[in-house]
Amino acid sequence: MEHKDIFILAVESSCDETAASVVKNGRDVLSNVIYSQISLHTEYGGVVPEIASRKHIEKINQVIEQALRDAEMRLNEMSAIAVTYGPGLVGALLVGVSAAKAISFASGIPLIGVHHIEGHISANFIENKDLEPPFVCLVVSGGHSHLVVVKDYGVYEIIGKTRDDAAGEAFDKVARAIGLGYPGGPKIDKVSKEGNPDAIHFPRAKVADAQYDFSFSGLKSAVLNYLNSCQMKGEEIVTADVAASFQKAVIDVLVDHSMDAVEKYGCRKFAIAGGVASNTGLREAFRKVCGEKGIAFYHPSPVYCTDNAAMIGTAAYYEYQKGVRHGFDLNAVPNLKLGERV
Ligand code: KG4
Ligand code: ZN
Repeated sequence: MEHKDIFILAVESSCDETAASVVKNGRDVLSNVIYSQISLHTEYGGVVPEIASRKHIEKINQVIEQALRDAEMRLNEMSAIAVTYGPGLVGALLVGVSAAKAISFASGIPLIGVHHIEGHISANFIENKDLEPPFVCLVVSGGHSHLVVVKDYGVYEIIGKTRDDAAGEAFDKVARAIGLGYPGGPKIDKVSKEGNPDAIHFPRAKVADAQYDFSFSGLKSAVLNYLNSCQMKGEEIVTADVAASFQKAVIDVLVDHSMDAVEKYGCRKFAIAGGVASNTGLREAFRKVCGEKGIAFYHPSPVYCTDNAAMIGTAAYYEYQKGVRHGFDLNAVPNLKLGERV
């Protein structure tokens, strides 16, 4: 029997990127359109939900049309329409969900709701054509820090998570404190290259009763205390050294916990995902340690680490294959748990 290609039009609007993509057979990205609102939020030092929702409304149709145009395809050639329905900002999610439902209703093309973090994890499938579950994945984004065993497509076991700040949140808060502005992650990444990562010793937090959980708020406080004490003593603050030392402290903890998890779960495959996974220091550290331990290391290109719709199309493909379809009662679920099916 002839194999029929599956084309998925995917939509993502959970935070401050309005994005759409066409993905063929799960791993072949035909278009990947991302309208980033970052510059709109910079002057406020973070994402302003109300502004994000309004901008999504303004951009969503253009971005979807552009994704079809770039893929040189028409809507009626799509096998399904996928959309992120959680977690995220409710007003932002609703824009994508409403657009996808409207298109699905008007065209009769099936609708598939996708979990944002499942999307981030699935971003690894796009460029690593040989990657298949099971593997251990570290998800580090602006809102999440999870250590996950990906047991099968769409089947996850969360083995660790943050007790307080997400890794990206810590990057953003520390960047603000040292005057680098928003978004902090890419700025700390860049400045760290000129700094000494061993200049200041910041704490590496362990969570006593949970080996794989993270805690970044103590580290953030340690950086703030260090800055205060320098100011009080009239000592010079070397921004690059603070950035590099902070980044090293985050990376050490992420590497440590991840490698323990890989050993415990016996997978010889390890992947990273989410905005912080584009950090050059983090990628280098994992490349090195996985190389030494003989563990296969997977990571998406930076454009697939930060928010995009191609990753949503990839995650949706595996749901599509299982027969998952959503009705028009699909709603935005701001606190949707990983692996939860609503
Ligand atoms: O995955 P993402 O685009 O959105 C969420 O789902 O949260 O992640 C955004 C987060 C922000 O906190 C941003 O500062 C961080 O990822 N980030 C980075 C880098 N690029 C983005 N953190 C460290 N180094 C980077 N190069
Ligand atoms: Zn994200």
